[in-house]
Amino acid sequence: MTPDDSSRWLRRACRDIGVMPVLTIEYAKHSVPLARALADGGLHVIEVTLRTDAALDSIREMSAMSGILIGAGTLLTPACAEKAKKAGAAFGVSPGSTDGLIQACLDLDLPLLPGAATASEIMALSDQGFDFVKFFPAETNGGLAALSALASPLPHVSYCPTGGITAASANRYLEHQNIICVGGSWIAPADTIIAEDWDRIRATAQRTRSDRPPAPSDNCSP
Ligand code: 3PG
Repeated sequence: MTPDDSSRWLRRACRDIGVMPVLTIEYAKHSVPLARALADGGLHVIEVTLRTDAALDSIREMSAMSGILIGAGTLLTPACAEKAKKAGAAFGVSPGSTDGLIQACLDLDLPLLPGAATASEIMALSDQGFDFVKFFPAETNGGLAALSALASPLPHVSYCPTGGITAASANRYLEHQNIICVGGSWIAPADTIIAEDWDRIRATAQRTRSDRPPAPSDNCSP
């Protein structure tokens, strides 16, 4: 897979959803009902962070469900990418990017949403052929104002800002032409997962989906 293929695949997967839930799952038994609640609410592209012992088992179980696309988040090393792919992840998300991780994902045919926070990092990814990047951590790096300033000289890049985004701020991001989707944990916070409050998670997903502004035209399509 080339970086260009990787970005194109991810843009297509993400452009209709608006919001990608970012999940931290403590118990794999929660993975299937959680994914079902999110997908029933209209959010079927999901990031599971590799931050708990249950993450890989959760990815394995959720990836076997139909109509749901599971990505592995917090990919830090080639070994993480390999484990995620083996567990069935359809794509990877990383907080930053290293040459080793990028090459591993390309070798594994695992589309990658690589993280970047500065103009130089975005330019380095764009030089390699990635034109859809995760802007992370979004809010502490200046939020929408910073992203708008970056998108001015770098309009050929699309963004998935993540980190500190809330139900109240998501739509302001989504109104920006270069923002394909936002990521966030507010859809399914850890305490709501532990409480197994699937109704609440489904309702939050539904509200998020129905409130979102229209998807931008994909000006990066070939
Ligand atoms: C993360 O990787 O932790 C995501 O960016 C989620 O951030 P949030 O919890 O601030 O939504």
